[in-house]
Formats: sequence, structure tokens, C-alpha cells
Amino acid sequence: MKRRILSGVQPSGKLHLGNYFGAVKQHIALQEEAECFYFIADYHALTTIQDPTLLRENTRDVALDYLALGLDPTKATFFRQSDVPEVTELTWILSTVTNMGLLARAVSYKEKVEKGIDASVGLFSYPILMASDILIYRSHVVPVGKDQVQHIEMTQDIAGKFNRAYAEVFPIPDYRLDKESKVPGTDGQKMSKSYGNTIEIFAEGKALKDTVMKIKTDSKPLGTPLDPDTCNVFAIYSLFATEPEKGDLAAKYRAGSIGYGEAKKLLLAKVDAYFSPARQKRKELAANPDFVEDLLRKGARHARSEAQQTMALVREAVGMKPGSVG
Ligand code: TRP
Repeated sequence: MKRRILSGVQPSGKLHLGNYFGAVKQHIALQEEAECFYFIADYHALTTIQDPTLLRENTRDVALDYLALGLDPTKATFFRQSDVPEVTELTWILSTVTNMGLLARAVSYKEKVEKGIDASVGLFSYPILMASDILIYRSHVVPVGKDQVQHIEMTQDIAGKFNRAYAEVFPIPDYRLDKESKVPGTDGQKMSKSYGNTIEIFAEGKALKDTVMKIKTDSKPLGTPLDPDTCNVFAIYSLFATEPEKGDLAAKYRAGSIGYGEAKKLLLAKVDAYFSPARQKRKELAANPDFVEDLLRKGARHARSEAQQTMALVREAVGMKPGSVG
């Protein structure tokens, strides 16, 4: 079997540059190397979103964002988690081999509860649903950010327990760490929705300009030498620029021949040009909801047939009929 890569994205609103350079860009590049499964984790989202309109909108936004940014549904299997309901059946079965103690150690759960999210049973067992996502497609590699590593380790633990208790159904998956996000937000802290310092990928016009113009810099006056290595504008510019362009701007900084206002304008032009084709594509896709729906359904059909094959093995292994009697 070819190496299978899987990852899930929570539908939690508009993607920003931190998401893009930290994760999305690599996820999309991986579709050239391996068999990729990517899904929108809408079952997981129910642990924090209890507004059907918002869930629907966010789900649609993630789908459009990924497709516009280059996810190719002929190369990767792209679908909504909830279009494969078998994953919830596996969640139940895996919950019977998962220790309470394992879940109780989950840092992510504790952090969410500290932030004020309701400590529902679903939030507590979130890692089992995530293990099911990974295991039901018998995935080998899961690209994730640092905050999700513990969940993958829990998945390894759960898969091992199932395999030892019943039969070797699941490969033990590994994680692949997404590039540590070196994208500073507009205030210089790491770019993150929770800090309110993001630059959205699909912002444009005045909204984009206003965000870029408010990036924090020091207050060195115009005409004095500036330090590119400590400048947020320069750091973000570097993500988009070629080496010669970077060298050029750094030289201007050091010579004192450019001010922050002008540097921001250069950055704005870069962001604008870089995402311009994706922005165009996103508009086209947004105008064709049936087309997008169709892509997601096709993805789901493929994912579901894989999931059903795994479930037949799982049901058999635990002593059930391989398929439901339909
Ligand atoms: N918990 C992940 C996050 O918040 C999303 C997710 C759900 C996921 N299921 C997954 C990631 C399976 C990787 C594999 O980012």
C-alpha cells in the first residue's frame, strides 16, 4: 500500500497567513508525493460551535479556501468528516479500549476548559474521534502542528491496544510536524486568531491595506538606518520575496533609504500579487456552490468506501457481522 497521509482541518473561520505558511501550503504540496486524505472536521467543530448557520458557513469557507489555494481533488481525497458517519461507529468501538486516564492527560482538553469551553463528554472524547479519523483510513502519516502531537501519540496508544486485543487492523501512524510557524502577526506576536493579529489570506482592497498598514514597527525616524532582522514588516515580506528581493530590501533598510510606510507598501503589493490567482479562483468557486458540493461528495464517496472496508475488519475482529444487515 502506498504511503497514506491524512489530516483534518477544523472549520473555524477565515484562514490567515500563519495557517498558510505553517500548514496549508505544505499540505497542498504533499498531494504530489503521496496519497492524501484531507477533511473538514465538522463533527469535531460541534464541540465548540453550536450555531448551524455558522458551522455551514465555516465548512464552506474552508472548502473554498483549500480548493482555491491549490488542493487538487483529482490528486487528494477531500471531504467533509460528517459525510463518512462510520467514523462515529469506530469512535464508539475505540472508546471501549481507551483508558479514562489517557484522555484525562490531554493538554488540549484542559486548555479548552480553562478558556471557558463547556466540558462536554464530546470535548473530553475529542481525541478518540480524532484517532478514528486517522485509523479508519489506515493512515501512515499525519501532518499536524505541535499542539496536536499529543493527540497523535494517543492515537498510537489506542491503535496498539486495539491491535493487541483483537487483530492487527491498524498501522501505527506517525506525525509529521508542520513547519513551526514563523509568521509574526501585526503586533509582532505569533500570528493567531486568538491574538486578533492576523492577516487574512483572502482579504483584499481596503481591508487588506488597513491590516498591513497597522503592522507594528519601532519608531525610528525616516532616513535613519533600520534593522531588517527585528522588523515584522520585513519578516512577513520575506515569506513572499525571492532571495534577491529580500537582499535588496535589507540593503535599503540598512542604508536608511526606505521608511516603514514604504516597506509596508511593498509588502502589500506582494501579498496582493501572491494570492491574486487564488483570490480569483475562490470567487469562481464561490459562484458555483453545486460544483464545490459535487467535489466534496465525490471525495466523500471514495473516503467512505475506504472507511467501510476498515469497518468490516474492525467489526469482524470484535465479533460482529462485518457489515450491518441492510
Ligand atoms: N484536532 C485537529 C485540529 O484542531 C483537527 C483534526 C481532527 C485532525 N481530526 C484530525 C488533524 C485527524 C489530523 C488528523 O487541528
